Amino acid sequence: MTTDRRPRVVPADAAGIAEAAALLRAGDIVAFPTETVYGLGGNALDPMAVARIYEAKGRPAHNPLIVHLPDAAAARCLAATWPEPAERLGRRWWPGPLTLVLPRAACVPDIVTAGGGTVALRVPAHPAAQALLRAAGVPLAAPSANRSGEVSPTTAAHVARGLAGRIPLVLDGGATDVGIESTVLDLSGPVPVLLRPGMISRAELEREIGPVEVPGRTRLHDEPRPSPGMLERHYAPRAPLHLLDAEQDAARLIRAVRARGGRVGAVTLGGPPPDADEVIPLPADADRYARGLYGALHRLDELGVALILAVAPPPDPRWDAVRDRLRRAAHPAP
Ligand code: TXA
Ligand code: MG
Repeated sequence: MTTDRRPRVVPADAAGIAEAAALLRAGDIVAFPTETVYGLGGNALDPMAVARIYEAKGRPAHNPLIVHLPDAAAARCLAATWPEPAERLGRRWWPGPLTLVLPRAACVPDIVTAGGGTVALRVPAHPAAQALLRAAGVPLAAPSANRSGEVSPTTAAHVARGLAGRIPLVLDGGATDVGIESTVLDLSGPVPVLLRPGMISRAELEREIGPVEVPGRTRLHDEPRPSPGMLERHYAPRAPLHLLDAEQDAARLIRAVRARGGRVGAVTLGGPPPDADEVIPLPADADRYARGLYGALHRLDELGVALILAVAPPPDPRWDAVRDRLRRAAHPAP
């Protein structure tokens, strides 16, 4: 597809689900809500459908996809082994915002895993995602429904704007609840490795299964196993984002942008806002901040600001996932 036409946005009701499921069974791709962010789904067992996902996103072929399933039993069918930690975590958090990386079963196409020996599996909790998985009757490979490298969508409108001309349909299930992507945990090696922090925290995982390694911070293994997608700049708004720590002089940055005729946006965190042109206040609570963050970044891009200032979150583990996304979104200051 080459037009700029917005995809059709339909409510995630019975008729919408049926239409989306029919497209998926026919090998097409469809955007749908999950509890974290909107996903762009295609039949994970159909390499042609999965190729369409990569093409629509402009995603590099070396970055594997998460496969979504209706329940843990279905997830287990796509893994070659099912270790005890997978069983425990699946019981505790599925359906929910947790993705487990496991050795892949033979039925999983190469294109889903980017040729690797592991597959990422997730059972989403959103009722529309559940209904769609059951109606389609196939596992859905689904990355976040944005162009590669851009901010993940938390509303159907974000998807329609970001993927205009590239997908036929968006199921609208309202704003997503968690607001940032799932926690990704690699269980394919001798020690569990946290590949992407999320609102299910490292501490919560460790309470369930014992020590969880974080790439680059501990040295239990010679070979780090980074998640391919985490190597690239990610989750970034169009405008440069600058993280403000407490003693940073925001006024100087703002003056520099205004001197060039630009406007400055800011995302605050409970406290008093910098003197920016567009200020979006977010709560000083990690869960509620995460819910609002991507919407704020999308909005500031829409408003055409030349710089986004974000107040850095406190150095508390509860903010790990938010800090990770802000760090990835940040560019060097102008
Ligand atoms: O919350 C979410 O996880 C959302 C919703 C739609 O489910 N999906 C999502 O997908 O964020 P995506 O493709 O944007 O991010 C998936 C992450 C990437 O960093 C990717 O590299 C990693 O998971 N990943 C996928 N398969 C992997 C594998 N076999 N081994 C290691 N990392 C993998
Ligand atoms: Mg993504």
